[in-house]
Amino acid sequence: MNLPKKVKIVEVGPRDGLQNEKETISADVKVELVDRLTDAGFVNIEAASFVSPKWVPQMATSTEVMARIKRKPGVIYSALTPNMKGLEAALEAKADEVVIFGAASEAFSQKNINCSIAESIERFREVAQTAKQHNIRLRGSISTAFGCPYQGEVAPEAVADVVRRMRDLGCDEIDIADTIGVGTPNKIKAVYEAVAKDFPLERLSGHFHDTYGQALANIYAAMEAGVSIFHSSVAGLGGCPYAKGATGNVSTEDVLYLMQGLGIETGIDLDKVVDAGQFISQHLGRKAVSRAGNAIAAKRAA
Ligand code: HMG
Ligand code: MG
Repeated sequence: MNLPKKVKIVEVGPRDGLQNEKETISADVKVELVDRLTDAGFVNIEAASFVSPKWVPQMATSTEVMARIKRKPGVIYSALTPNMKGLEAALEAKADEVVIFGAASEAFSQKNINCSIAESIERFREVAQTAKQHNIRLRGSISTAFGCPYQGEVAPEAVADVVRRMRDLGCDEIDIADTIGVGTPNKIKAVYEAVAKDFPLERLSGHFHDTYGQALANIYAAMEAGVSIFHSSVAGLGGCPYAKGATGNVSTEDVLYLMQGLGIETGIDLDKVVDAGQFISQHLGRKAVSRAGNAIAAKRAA
């Protein structure tokens, strides 16, 4: 299959990236990060997460962050909402899109959101209906779609089953997530082939963590399978608090470098993303986990 001419990159660094940081990051820094990303040209930024602060303390400033970011018209600022309490906070914060997040493996569902897959879908029903009543975009995210840290193998049909349930809840877009980065290109293709029977490929995304260094190859494979929405994290920030050893999402700088080389349009200014990556990495006191980001920064300094 031909590669797409254009892809949508959803920047998830402010949420997926920062949620795993142990040291509290001030709202000032989070706001500046989101503003820099807005300025770089993203049309969708995952900026907040309205989850229990006991579970993910770093996201406790989400209301403040959403109130203080400079919003650019047309840009979708998304927030995670695992239940009605989260949805109410997201509505209050004027999120443009809410994300219900489940899993393709029972064990991960229990660890991450403290309920079974079936219970999570029941919990999401009211969240989805209320989001629709408020005309807010609804996204579904499916963790451990290519493997689970507790259960191991996950069958493509298990992913397809959750896709159908999220479709029936009215999701506008569904993320197929490699939470622990174990997928390789043939597995990626097999999963998209299975789920595309039940949901349009143009509304399916790839959310790939880069734990085993496979994310760019997997993005390429997913594009060959017809996917054109990808999630990435500036400076490769992140990990999942409920997936031990999981590292960040594929770095946005690396994805943009790949897209540039392939002549695929993203609408995003790579130089500004490199700046944002260096900004947040300096703040965290470590080098960015982005090959392209660090190479471009080093070339500039030379
Ligand atoms: P629970 O303990 O079963 O829920 O947690 P509960 O309803 O019994 O509530 C427990 C306490 O949390 C109560 O407070 C609630 O008020 C409070 P208390 O009475 O004890 O003081 N609470 C909340 N507070 C703020 N906002 C809320 C909220 N809900 C309850 N929305 C729950 C269930 C889902 C809440 C919990 O398990 C949770 O917050 N989990 C979130 C885990 C998480 O954020 N994980 C990371 C994001 S997912 C991810 O990274 C994967 C993804 O990137 C894709 C991939 O890579 O795989 C998306
Ligand atoms: Mg993730």
